Amino acid sequence: MSHATESAPHAHPEAAGDQHAAAHEPRDSTPSTKRARERRAIVVGASSGIGEALVRQLCAEGVDVVALARRRERLEELALSCGGSAGRVIPCAHDVSDFAAVPQLFEALVRELGGLDLFVFASGLMTEVGPNEFDTAKDLEMLAVNLGGCVAWTNEVAKLFRTQRSGVIVGISSIAGERGRKGNPVYGTSKAAMNHYLEALRNRLADFDVHVCTIKPGFVETAMLAAARAQGRSIKGAITPEAAAKSILRAARARRNEVFVPFKWTLVAAVIRNIPSFLFKGMNI
Ligand SMILES: NC(=O)c1ccc[n+]([C@@H]2O[C@H](COP(=O)([O-])OP(=O)(O)OC[C@H]3O[C@@H](n4cnc5c(N)ncnc54)[C@H](OP(=O)(O)O)[C@@H]3O)[C@@H](O)[C@H]2O)c1
Repeated sequence: MSHATESAPHAHPEAAGDQHAAAHEPRDSTPSTKRARERRAIVVGASSGIGEALVRQLCAEGVDVVALARRRERLEELALSCGGSAGRVIPCAHDVSDFAAVPQLFEALVRELGGLDLFVFASGLMTEVGPNEFDTAKDLEMLAVNLGGCVAWTNEVAKLFRTQRSGVIVGISSIAGERGRKGNPVYGTSKAAMNHYLEALRNRLADFDVHVCTIKPGFVETAMLAAARAQGRSIKGAITPEAAAKSILRAARARRNEVFVPFKWTLVAAVIRNIPSFLFKGMNI
């Protein structure tokens, strides 16, 4: 088993055993100040950026969180730095494109948490693609992480949540999935496909009181954005990962279906979706 539980600072006394308790607690729409209604969460893609900020907010609110990604040292540092928080952080090193490992690992993590109330898939890869580049290996890697990883993990979560008739699933998609932009065809495709998959799952699970929330961030100040800037892209108006995490948790707890983060991207998306194709072909966005 690849997960490292030995560095978890302390156990949450209420973590074990009660699979359904969170579903019966009153809802709380002010995530960062009051105690969360979830008790156990898994965040996939937690070693940096938005996922890391989500882990920090959740454990500050008393949630026990599995923080999962490939970089073990970063996850262990994250767990240590959250040591004084109300919830504990359990680091787990895993590559989401190792699909075969997911069912067993998921089962072990849920056992360790004593149940699961909230699942977030935040892992993402945006490899820069040149204007004349058609590189299948790069493209398939992005699909494997962004879409394959999301499906492999979320299917396991869906089975559990359907059986327990409770739980919230959050998928971190992107504004990039709204339209087929020429800049990075497969990154956008992976996010558009993710939107479709999450919507279908939401509809499948609606009768089981399980909610699926699709988050579509605009620009968030993370390593992914820094890499895009380093390639010469001009990016302004980015929000912090902490602000993004706060909006994401608020949307998930309010059981919103699809939310742009921050809100202004709702308007941008509405415009982008309605640009006629003959104009969009000439645009470099
Ligand atoms: N930043 C933005 O402006 C923006 C905008 C729209 C959407 N998003 C989306 O937001 C999500 C989070 O990205 P971010 O901005 O926070 O960037 P980030 O800091 O680069 O975080 C990406 C996360 O994905 C993980 N990851 C990448 N490949 C993985 C793999 N094979 N297996 C497991 N985990 C993997 C990384 O961990 P390891 O490297 O340790 O594995 C890291 O924790 C992504 O899905 C991204 O597409 C970001």
